[in-house]
Amino acid sequence: MYGDLSGKVVIVTGGSMGIGKAIARRFAEEGSRVIDLSIGRHDDASYTHMDCDVTKTDDLKASLKAVYDQYGSINVLVNNAGIESYGSIEKMSEEEWRRIIEVNLFGYYNTSRIAIPYMLKSENPSIVNISSVQASVITKNASAYVTSKHAIIGFTKSIALDYAPDLRCNAVCPATIDTPLVRKAAELEVGNNENDIKRKMLEWGSQHPMKRIGQPSEVASAVAFLASKEASFITGTCLYVDGGLSIRAPISTPE
Ligand code: NAI
Repeated sequence: MYGDLSGKVVIVTGGSMGIGKAIARRFAEEGSRVIDLSIGRHDDASYTHMDCDVTKTDDLKASLKAVYDQYGSINVLVNNAGIESYGSIEKMSEEEWRRIIEVNLFGYYNTSRIAIPYMLKSENPSIVNISSVQASVITKNASAYVTSKHAIIGFTKSIALDYAPDLRCNAVCPATIDTPLVRKAAELEVGNNENDIKRKMLEWGSQHPMKRIGQPSEVASAVAFLASKEASFITGTCLYVDGGLSIRAPISTPE
């Protein structure tokens, strides 16, 4: 637990499920006042939900103003809302490619630029951007997603530099995490039989040096650390929460 997060106002985009939900819960446990901005259904009473599409500027402006007017500060922003779909650049439609970039990259920019003026009037402001291990090692047929996750690293560094020393900005890069997004990916590969989905996720887990996929709460721990005063000299960096996936070269060596 990080004592300094108690009472802080924390915005989490895409906090209705998956990683965002675990992040929102973690900050709520820390005693923060948490607002989820997402388009999904919300079922957790420990934090507040506002229906908001991060690609819609008017929605975002109204939501963030309402938060600031009600709470008087915005201390932490976690850009997390993201989508993924698959196909080579020839197979994926132009609309789909644009949609992924719009949510995953423009959405982070849009939320940040509108939140930052409020954050600069608040104590110890900090942004945490959820990127991915796919900013480093990548899977096939995911060019829009991979591009967005690489770009988030540059975006994170830019905010860190442009707003230092007044505001910190860092990224978290998770590998495979047990969320609806990953279950959907498994389903696309093996169909909707629950046992087949479980087997697929175990197989993905076995490819991580830690021999399992991660839990959303393990990403939330990293986010809480980066937002806390314990990380007061850390800005512009990315913290990998990947069970070692990004460090292993697929080359054998003698014992
Ligand atoms: P998820 O699909 O389980 O949840 C996504 C959330 O984003 C939902 O709350 C949804 O309502 C929200 N959302 C989607 N489009 C939105 C929009 N236009 N406006 C507002 N909210 C919107 O996804 P998951 O797995 O929890 O992923 C969260 C983030 O973590 C994403 O940025 C994803 O790329 C990233 N990530 C996920 C990994 C995984 O293995 N699950 C691995 C690495 C990164």
